[in-house]
Amino acid sequence: MELGRSLAGAVAVVAAMERGTEAIIGLTVSSFVSLSLDPPLVMFAIQHDANSYPGIVASKCFGVSVLGTHQAEVARRFAIKGAHKAADTAIGRGVELPVPLVADSLAHVECSTSQIIVGGDHAIVVGRVEAVRVYPGKPLVYYERTFGSFAPFVA
Ligand SMILES: Cc1cc2nc3c(=O)[nH]c(=O)nc-3n(C[C@H](O)[C@H](O)[C@H](O)COP(=O)(O)O)c2cc1C
Repeated sequence: MELGRSLAGAVAVVAAMERGTEAIIGLTVSSFVSLSLDPPLVMFAIQHDANSYPGIVASKCFGVSVLGTHQAEVARRFAIKGAHKAADTAIGRGVELPVPLVADSLAHVECSTSQIIVGGDHAIVVGRVEAVRVYPGKPLVYYERTFGSFAPFVA
């Protein structure tokens, strides 16, 4: 859809451990946003035909790594369908939940899945925030199919 091109979005990697194999599954998203403060909820949209969709649903928890400008390569890697995305990426584990988190990110959010709402060919996954940590850095932004950075107006 053309509209998607004109929306600038923050970039994150959503990942989970596949039940049984413990393999890291996940994808790059620009749909991750905060939903509610009390209770603390976040959400993202995922296409039904994403390879990682069934595994993320089955694991009942997921980690979100909000990416910085130095991580465009990580964003590209996790946007390749079915690739061994984690092989060349430094991945840590959550403190509260067994969720994969990309090292050196701007924020790490550990979520238990609270709700899944079908929205056309995507699903909205709502997560309850069980732990969150933020780190200094500049956010990676996606706009007009290009990665860039945020620059404030100078007064
Ligand atoms: C910047 C960017 C943002 C994206 N945002 C989303 C998104 O919000 N939801 C989604 O389902 N796919 C999104 N994608 C596409 C997925 O990352 C891509 O389809 C990925 O290959 C899915 O991986 P999988 O099929 O291995 O799960 C985005 C891709 C890029 C490059």
